[in-house]
Order: sequence, then C-alpha cells, then structure tokens
Amino acid sequence: MIDITAAGGLAEASADALIVPVLGNRTWGPGADWVAEQLGDYLTDFLDELDFTGKAGAVAAVPVRGLLEFKRVILVGLGDEPDTEGLRQGAGAAGRKVTRSPGVATTLHQVDVPAAAVAVLEGMLLSQYRFDKYRTEKKPSKLERIGLIDAEESAVAEAVRRARATVDAVNLARDLINEPPAAKAPQALVEVATTIAEEGGLDLTVYQPDQFEEERFGGLIGVAAGSHQPAAMIVLRHEPENARGFVAIVGKGIVFDSGGLSLKPPAAMEAMKTDMSGAAVVLATMQAVAALELPVKVVGLAPVTENMPGGGAQRPGDVLTPRNGKTVEVLNTDAEGRLVLADALSLAAEEEPDIIVDAATLTGACPVALGEKIAGLWGNNDAAIERVSQAAAEAGEAVWHMPLPSYYRKNIDSDVADMKNTGPRYGGSINAALFLNEFVGDVPWAHLDIAGPARWPDDEHYQVKGGSGFGVRTLLRLIEATAEQ
Ligand code: BES
Ligand code: MN
Ligand code: ZN
Repeated sequence: MIDITAAGGLAEASADALIVPVLGNRTWGPGADWVAEQLGDYLTDFLDELDFTGKAGAVAAVPVRGLLEFKRVILVGLGDEPDTEGLRQGAGAAGRKVTRSPGVATTLHQVDVPAAAVAVLEGMLLSQYRFDKYRTEKKPSKLERIGLIDAEESAVAEAVRRARATVDAVNLARDLINEPPAAKAPQALVEVATTIAEEGGLDLTVYQPDQFEEERFGGLIGVAAGSHQPAAMIVLRHEPENARGFVAIVGKGIVFDSGGLSLKPPAAMEAMKTDMSGAAVVLATMQAVAALELPVKVVGLAPVTENMPGGGAQRPGDVLTPRNGKTVEVLNTDAEGRLVLADALSLAAEEEPDIIVDAATLTGACPVALGEKIAGLWGNNDAAIERVSQAAAEAGEAVWHMPLPSYYRKNIDSDVADMKNTGPRYGGSINAALFLNEFVGDVPWAHLDIAGPARWPDDEHYQVKGGSGFGVRTLLRLIEATAEQ
C-alpha cells in the first residue's frame, strides 16, 4: 500500500521526484514559483526547448539532482482554468512519470479547485494500476510514498480515506473486468460478493438457479439456458440505522457475451469478457459504500450469467416472462442484457427506493453515438437524471443525457408479446432504454449505457487501457450526495 502523509515545506522536503502544477502560458502554480526561483534560467531554457507552456495534459520531467533536494521536478500543465477533473487528470499524467520512483512529494493539492487533495490522490493512485496477473514478467509500480507539501495532518487523513475507498473500488472493478471469462464464472462473482459482504458487514442474498422459477426470473432463465455455468442473482444490502435516503443500483453481469444463438462474429466477441462491467461497478460501489460507512440505504443488484449458444439455449422466437409479468418475444439472443436487467430492475422497483440507477454495457450503438469515453444517460424522471448528471460531473466521469421518446416505443412492439427485445438499428440505444423503462414501474430511474467507457481504449492520464471501472465514481458520488442532502 502506498504511504501518504503530510510533508513539510518545500525548502525542507526531499524525495525522488517533486510534482508541481503550471497553468496556461507558463503561469507558475503553487510550488512551481519556488522551483522557478531556485532554478532560474536552467528551468526556463529547459522548458523552452521542450516547448512546455503549461497547457492541459502536458508533463515535463526536469532532472535537478544537486540543485534541489529532489532528483527530478515534474511540471504538470493544467491549462488556463483547471477544474477538479483537470487536476485529477494532471495528477494521473504525473503519476505515470513516477512509477519507477519510490518517493514523491507534490504541491498539486494546493491548486484552488473543490476537493483538490482527494482528486490528486485519486489521479496518482489510479494511474499506478497494472493488470499483470497473467504475465510471467511483472512490472509493478515502485511508488511507495507520497508527501503532500505543507498539508495539514487531519485534512490529509480524510482525503486519504476517501481516495483509497474510491481507488480500491475502481481497481476491484478493473480487475474483475480484465479477468478472463473462464476465471469469472457467475459463481466466482458470487464469491466476490460474499467477500465484500463479509468484509464490509453487508447483507447478502444470492438467488441460485433452482430458485429462478419461484422468483419469476424469466429473463435470467432465458439467457442462462445456453450456458453450462450456473447463473445467479446477487443482492447486496447496506442498511445503516441512520440512513438518509434509499438508492438501488443495478449492474448488467454477462460474464461472456457470445451473442447466444444469434452468435456474434469473432471480432465482436473479443471484448465480450467486459460485458459484466455493470455488475463489477455495482459490487465495487457496494464495497466503497461499506468502507466509507455512508449513511444511506443502498441495495446493489447484479444478475450474473453467461450468454452462450449451448443445446439448451433460448431461440429467436421464444417468449419470456420477466419478474414483473410483462412478456417479451426474444428475436435476437444477442440483446440479452435487457432481458436479465428486466428481472433485476423489477426486483429493485418492488423495494420502492428513492431512485434506481443501472449501469450496463448495453448497446454497441451507444459508443457509435457518443464515442468510447462518454456514457449515455437515460431516465424516466427529470430529477433522477439531474442527480446522476450532477454526480457524474462532480466525480469527473463524462455522461450525456439522451432522449426517451414515447413515440419510439412502437419500435419494440411485438407481433405476439408485450414487446420484443430488438428494434430497428437506428436509435438502438434508445430502443434498449425504452425496453428497460418497462420494468421500473413508477420508481425514479436513470440508466447509464457504459458500452463505450467500460473499457478504456488507451493509456491516458489516470486511465489505463482495459477495464476502467467507469461508473463507480458516479454511483459513489450519487450516494455520498444523497447522504449530504
Ligand atoms: N454487450 C453487447 C453490447 C456491446 C457491444 C457492448 C459492443 C460493448 C461493445 C450487447 O449485449 C449486444 O450485443 N447488443 C446488441 C443489441 C442488438 C442485438 C439489438 C448490439 O448492440 O448490437
Ligand atoms: Mn449481446
Ligand atoms: Zn451483452
């Protein structure tokens, strides 16, 4: 575990690397002015050569051994008007530069944005992540110590508590998403939920396949039918006595999506171990909610199964009855996420929470619309949509509100049942959201389609290529904000 402490002033501190912020047009941020004074022309000449002006995303590593009590100074560009997410990204970009340095000191937390210290720690810690479990040669980060220059002990302790809970949760989700599909069968995720429940003092209910009929999980029964792996419905509960609200979170947990009988082509299957990202996000968020002892009632639901084309698989044309009793004609077995979510959303709605938020890698159409780094946001209630938008903005995750037009509902009309599980190609993500809307009743509900950002396409600031855990920070912030109201 990386040790994080309050450090003294710049003149007394020493470390392998010192990280300081620079704003646009090379305006020195906190601590960078001191460095510039100490180094004089050496620094300006060096930065001129690199053409480093302090624009957001730029990082310059300056060797200064002998001139200062640091081996290197790392200047982080934050642009003209940094915000909290800009600072988190800057800290992440700097974090990438110090993975070989055991000791780091920084003044980044002195930048004047809301919750600066938490953002800096999140950015630096998130950027150290590696998934090298399956490599014979591992190259873990060597970062051991972060000192926050001129910070107050108690403020550091609180920032560390928040940042660690968040980063541990995001990294748990990243690990689960990156894990190969054979290593994360539904029952393995049940084990993960069991550990989270035991360690966090959460209540856990797991519905096993022999209970699915009785529980009327028609959607889960249909999708699980083609797989040899027993499915499960995981329900984790955090019910503190001082609860100030009730939030239900629901995550799609398809541990591998082959498409079922409507089989995907090989290239489209390559990333389908990540189709349980929503469930990973829900499990991870529950872990953080427990660790932070947030005074909110939270129920986390994850329907987990594999979508396979085995001999027992559901067929195009089959009709399913998810938990709320509405009937669904399955015309494409590759539109499986909405089927398992139908059961989980119905189950969540029965508890009448103040809000349901689901996260799902639901449609390939969503990244077509928004690209890979923005999630789509739908909902049946303006206040619910606003709460999630606000939480995402504060957490630094990009979401975009999308429409749920009732005049598109006929896109999912079926010839034989209450609805079908497909629709026209155009508006594919909207058609999917309209389908989910049939299962939440009157409960305020928001839906995050994370098909794009669940998997980060490249190494960038604090993001690491692969499973991202996108959604954890938004859900956690939503729950925190619920506690604060
Ligand atoms: N898991 C996929 C959606 C997906 C695609 C996520 C690409 C991430 C990247 C989902 O189950 C699916 O297959 N959706 C279909 C729906 C269609 C059959 C109506 C899709 O998007 O093509
Ligand atoms: Mn699918
Ligand atoms: Zn899927």
